[in-house]
Amino acid sequence: MPVTILVGTQWGDEGKGKATDLLAARSDFVVRYQGGNNAGHTVVAAGELLKLHLIPSGILYRHVTPVIADGVVLDPGVLLQEMDALEGRGIDTSRLKISGNAHLVMPYHLEIDKVTERYLGKHRLGTTKRGIGPAYADKVARIGLRVQDLLDPSIFRQKLDVVLKEKNLLLARLYNRLPMDADKIAETYLTHGKRLEPFITDTGALLYQALREGRNVLLEGAQGTLLDIDHGTYPFVTSSSPVAGGALTGAGLGPREVDRVIGVTKAYVTRVGSGPFPTEDTGPAGRRMGERGVEVGTTTGRPRRCGWFDSVLLRYAVRVNGLTELFLTKLDVLSGMSEMRICVAYEYEGNCYDDFPPHQTIFHKAQPVYEDVEPWPEELDGVERFEDLPAAARKYVDRIAELAAVPVRHLSVGPDRRQTLAVPG
Ligand code: IMP
Repeated sequence: MPVTILVGTQWGDEGKGKATDLLAARSDFVVRYQGGNNAGHTVVAAGELLKLHLIPSGILYRHVTPVIADGVVLDPGVLLQEMDALEGRGIDTSRLKISGNAHLVMPYHLEIDKVTERYLGKHRLGTTKRGIGPAYADKVARIGLRVQDLLDPSIFRQKLDVVLKEKNLLLARLYNRLPMDADKIAETYLTHGKRLEPFITDTGALLYQALREGRNVLLEGAQGTLLDIDHGTYPFVTSSSPVAGGALTGAGLGPREVDRVIGVTKAYVTRVGSGPFPTEDTGPAGRRMGERGVEVGTTTGRPRRCGWFDSVLLRYAVRVNGLTELFLTKLDVLSGMSEMRICVAYEYEGNCYDDFPPHQTIFHKAQPVYEDVEPWPEELDGVERFEDLPAAARKYVDRIAELAAVPVRHLSVGPDRRQTLAVPG
């Protein structure tokens, strides 16, 4: 392997958990490199469904060391809850490693996320309200508190007092909220810190050493390319860098370690929260995708907006991430559609755009140019080999690979581990 990067090619929720689960079987380390508990994936642990937001799904494999790396923002209370839930089901969490450089999501971040969204009114971003944006904003403003600060109570308190003074002014004077109590925050966080101490380490050095010993490392992205702070549909993005470049800064590794960049692509497109979505279908076709695909946010429970496959977005994701292959998910959801189409370009003011438009106004107002594709009536969930798919479904997959100019190597036709097909070629 040695380093494989796995990224979402759309607005998140592409089914990365499924792909990670498959790849984790062959990995020694599975690393979360950005985002926080705005992400979510559902795993089946000891026969029960479990929602994880921070812990990499590799935790389910005994041979895997799960890592929360430098680029993540971490809410320690949420992390401990997840660890307890896993332990309660007999899953050992003792192998978890947490970077001391990861930033902490603080209670005022949650509050500020909520009040700023309210303040923005109809211009709101539709965030997950988990404090992610405000935590990254403080990181960049250099007033963030980090996981390592939990290990030094006096430094933690000094930093908290400085920051909280400003945050309380903001909360009380601008947003008319009650100020927050430093004693209470410090007590809760430092108690969490004591429990987390055995897991905190220099994860960059750990991964570097592991690679020198020939181990395999999987860098698992949260969210997706179009939610990237630099390369996504700004401002309707998250505050971190889910793309492959972000994987390297987030994990603290260099580009020469990487030999595979896998783009996880859903067979149609979804988006939660606000922002442009050219191929959105609010009619019966989109509703059918949402119902059959159970398109409801893992973190917020919000219904996801659904639409047709968009190859312009995919080509953009190929370019931005340097994808070497695709992992296509949820093809089974599209069975039985009365008609089907793929977006091959956008049209705006008489111009045709095959590539992602250079200005946001074009993207916001673009009309998709569709190519009709042949639907298939057969259910796919029992198919075990690519060759056994209905011809129209195979053609759909081939067309996606052709439009992306990158091969589809895996294909999923259902949530179970066994419902992933290798694509020959
Ligand atoms: P934030 O990451 O909570 O600040 O939210 C910013 C935008 O990213 C909103 O549109 C969210 O719905 C979206 N977002 C954040 N995390 C995810 C995710 O895991 N899947 C899909 N959308 C997400």
